[in-house]
Amino acid sequence: MIARGMMLGPDQPMILHLLDIEPASSSLEAVKMELQDSAFPLLKGVIATTDVVEACKDVNIAIMIGGFPRIAGMERKDVMSKNVVIYKAQASALERYASEDCKENITCLTRLDHNRALAQLADKLSVPTDKELATDHNWLKNEFITEVQQRGAAILRARKQSSALSAASAACDHIRDWFLGTPKGTWVSMGVCSDGSYGIPPGLVYSFPVICEKGSWKIVQGLSIDAFSREKMDDSARELAEEKDLAYSCLNA
Ligand SMILES: NC(=O)c1ccc[n+]([C@@H]2O[C@H](COP(=O)([O-])OP(=O)(O)OC[C@H]3O[C@@H](n4cnc5c(N)ncnc54)[C@H](O)[C@@H]3O)[C@@H](O)[C@H]2O)c1
Repeated sequence: MIARGMMLGPDQPMILHLLDIEPASSSLEAVKMELQDSAFPLLKGVIATTDVVEACKDVNIAIMIGGFPRIAGMERKDVMSKNVVIYKAQASALERYASEDCKENITCLTRLDHNRALAQLADKLSVPTDKELATDHNWLKNEFITEVQQRGAAILRARKQSSALSAASAACDHIRDWFLGTPKGTWVSMGVCSDGSYGIPPGLVYSFPVICEKGSWKIVQGLSIDAFSREKMDDSARELAEEKDLAYSCLNA
């Protein structure tokens, strides 16, 4: 998707740096070979490496998706402590070696849930995903939320692996809209550092509706929040604050 121009537009050439760990180096090399064999006009080079410094050197955009999955029997703390170590190494390499604009802007992906929500609404209303209309409040407050929340688990059950195409597509949408701007009249969901908007504690990375223009994001202001949404938003803020504490405790352990 990236090499075809779906992320950065049809006129933006790129060099891809691909990082994985030693046990995956052979399949990483195969990915490189396949990228070369696709002869994408925009793809000016592929650096496939297991060296985090080489991977981070001079990059303008870093998509951090290398991680340790939660496997059966693992506690949240176990998976967190493994990933904290991974992300600390990558963040340190980015800090030292990436280009300036890369390390100053960090957001997180909530677009997969956003897209899943659009798909559920479109299916419910039997319309394409770009229509706006939903009045069945009971469905919105119950099935809709549950379906979106449990979609990842449903895919995992069905294919015995977590979502791949939709996750990649959401990551692509996220970066494209961030860099090239959200289409006029719309907003998207992005996890960004809270400035206190909507009563979310400042400094917490939280999913907000945002509008992007020329590589910067801005939280959409002034939306009315009913009691139901307020409660859900506060629940999410509490869970994220707990997760942040857990991450810091693993980092300092
Ligand atoms: N797939 C989804 O729908 C989804 C949704 C939400 C979050 N995530 C998160 O995104 C991340 C990636 O998910 P995935 O489904 O692609 O997982 P995956 O297990 O399919 O892929 C992870 C990749 O990261 C590599 N990796 C492991 N340790 C690494 C390290 N230290 N440095 C570099 N690479 C390393 C692995 O070898 C593998 O290629 C995970 O943290 C996951 O929790 C995924």
